Amino acid sequence: MKRRLAEIGDWVEHRTGLIGALQHFLYEDIPASSGWHQVFGSLALFLFMVQAFTGILLAFNYAPTPGEAYDSLRYILTELTGGSLIRGLHHWGASMIIVVVVLHMVQVFLYGAYKKPRETTWMIGVVLFLVTLAYGLTGYLLPWDNRAYWGTTVTTQIAAMSPGVGAYLTQLLGAANGVGVVTFARFYAVHVLILPPATILLVALHVYLVRKHGVAAEPGDELKPKKRFFPMQVFKDTVAIFLAFALLFAMAVAVHVPLEQVADPTDTSYIPRPEWYFLCLFQVLKLFNGPLEVVGAVVLPGLTVLALILAPFLDRSQVVKVTRRFAAIGIVLLAVIGWSALTMAAVMSTPPQEAAVDFSYPTDWMQLTPDRLATSALPNIPAFVLHGAAVYGANHCSACHSVNGAGGKVGPVLNGLAKRQARSWVEDHFSNPQKLSPGTIMPPYPMSQQDRDNLTSYLFSLPDQ
Ligand code: HEC
Repeated sequence: MKRRLAEIGDWVEHRTGLIGALQHFLYEDIPASSGWHQVFGSLALFLFMVQAFTGILLAFNYAPTPGEAYDSLRYILTELTGGSLIRGLHHWGASMIIVVVVLHMVQVFLYGAYKKPRETTWMIGVVLFLVTLAYGLTGYLLPWDNRAYWGTTVTTQIAAMSPGVGAYLTQLLGAANGVGVVTFARFYAVHVLILPPATILLVALHVYLVRKHGVAAEPGDELKPKKRFFPMQVFKDTVAIFLAFALLFAMAVAVHVPLEQVADPTDTSYIPRPEWYFLCLFQVLKLFNGPLEVVGAVVLPGLTVLALILAPFLDRSQVVKVTRRFAAIGIVLLAVIGWSALTMAAVMSTPPQEAAVDFSYPTDWMQLTPDRLATSALPNIPAFVLHGAAVYGANHCSACHSVNGAGGKVGPVLNGLAKRQARSWVEDHFSNPQKLSPGTIMPPYPMSQQDRDNLTSYLFSLPDQ
């Protein structure tokens, strides 16, 4: 048996060179000082693979158009086996990868591992960090709920502030007339068609350069015996990956992933909130008003990125032990304090999250988003009626009323309403039932004129029963 295996191994090696390549890859020498602090690079790569895998699974069931995205996601969450788990992994994986990439950068920064000859490795790393953020930014829009819609509206407004290129960027984001189909298509294309191949290319370059220059050594390492990448570092990497995945899995199962009401461009009272890792930027933005806004929106973040990219050229000092890199430690501490303070301030000043949509009652109405019409399974129903049905569902009218035989028994059946009441009566009744029906338990429903119109149209479109 053993001999047969060896023979197969020989065959593969002779025909492809695969085994030799693997050995060459694994039995690399690494410096004596390498250890647990260097697991983050491999961990980030692993998490990228988790994102790619869960992203592909989501794409199998996700319909990437504004009319369908929300419904298909709801389908994934409520009906697809394991769908909610996959979305949880993808959502929390995105957060985790940002944490891990930042830890990786902090480690390299603290140790001064970006110094000659590893400047390019570092700069490509910074680009990879930006790519990671770009995934977050573009992915944020894809659920097409209110949170996604309004968050992205802010993003496009920030892009519009860029000096000189603002108008052009707005065009590029397809947001000249607000966030809509074009923006959605662009974000989706960037998220799935541009970023993944770019990541693969950059990671390949990054890893190639890491291999070319070897793992950065600390002063004094020359005197100690070298370690082998396999099995020592591989073992540490594997343990880190195992722990991280266990944590991610637990989060995907146990921590609620937000999904709010379907995007409602008319809901201008909605307060946009970015993802947690953009909260600090959000807060910086608030510190600058009027003509200075561009400083918070573009200048400061731009300078930060520039400083990061140029770090190897700004710090050209000799490599010393990490414990003696006081300036680097100070910068990291300052960054952590600044980031925490800004993020805390942002959290405290944003109102609590809007209640998530309750999926426990029948949610057929959610299929009926206004923009669904073009591809609707119900081609004969006009968009405003579908929107009215959505308003009916969103306000939980069915708690008291029944429609087409389904719903509560507290209030009158709403089929045949047109025969009983005038349109104007119904519309007035929504805003103040007490006035028209003294003593009624129906609460008042303050809503936009458009919602009220469409809701009435929906009720009037119901068949008599
Ligand atoms: C707490 C229970 C309750 C809720 C929730 C409720 N209603 Fe009512 N509704 C009633 C009751 C009771 C009446 C009958 C008395 C009256 O006219 O107010 C009524 C009456 C009506 C009427 C007049 C019906 C008729 O035949 O004259 C309409 C139309 C109506 N509701 C629509 C709605 C819509 C739309 C919603 C959701 C936005 C809603 N109601 C939410 C209890 C409720």
